[in-house]
Amino acid sequence: MSKFIQTNGRHRTIEGWPLVFTVLTVICVLVGGTVEFLPLVLMEGNIPVISSVTPYTPLELAGRDLYIREGCVNCHSQMIRPFRDELERYGDYSKPGESVYDRPFLWGSKRTGPDLARVGGKYPDLWHVRHMEDPRSTSPNSIMPPYDWLLSKTLKLNDLPAKMRGLKSLGTPYSTADIDGSVEDANAQAENLARNIAANGGPEDLADKEIVAVVAYLQRLGTDLTKLTN
Ligand code: HEC
Repeated sequence: MSKFIQTNGRHRTIEGWPLVFTVLTVICVLVGGTVEFLPLVLMEGNIPVISSVTPYTPLELAGRDLYIREGCVNCHSQMIRPFRDELERYGDYSKPGESVYDRPFLWGSKRTGPDLARVGGKYPDLWHVRHMEDPRSTSPNSIMPPYDWLLSKTLKLNDLPAKMRGLKSLGTPYSTADIDGSVEDANAQAENLARNIAANGGPEDLADKEIVAVVAYLQRLGTDLTKLTN
């Protein structure tokens, strides 16, 4: 009993020195925090790697930035949770390794519209063009706003090398050749996409418009894992 009172007394004494007590508490929290946090940052094995997940192509990257600019993330999540209703509606649940190249991530937290994590390949390219121009033309009663300017605004690609250099400095494995050839690569992918859209009866002149980048990005979403099984 007397021992207990003695310890208790010492603690009381330290508690009675607010400054010393604050400093000791901060040291304890810092040590605890460092021990928890450092391994997460330092151990490479903490980043789940899926071999078929590759960085976005330059055109997809441009489309992703338009997706951010237009605020699509305010209505669409990109994160399928491992619940049966979600799996049946959207497909396989999202794995951490699928978004290692998403900076910033676009998991979202609101679903006014459906989740888009696996929308790639769900519709033809032309469907996306029509849907962006006027959502109700493809989805009757849709409350999604139209983004028709994407079909007429010229796609700017000249900042791609700088964007890719930035991502590379954060760990995305773009090679120097990828970066140097990014504008050319994006133009080639855009022309291909635009040809496909025109061949299916869509507008003829989309190769240099923002819409092709958005469609390239949407068609990529969630397709890395199916590459693995096919
Ligand atoms: C105000 C909320 C809202 C915003 C903002 C919004 N959407 Fe939607 N979106 C919806 C709704 C609601 C639907 C379901 C009806 C439909 O298909 O139009 C939808 C459907 C979609 C679909 C079809 C998904 C599927 O699986 O059928 C795609 C693709 C899509 N949106 C892309 C976008 C893109 C890209 C943007 C940004 C340029 C965007 N949305 C912005 C509400 C929104």
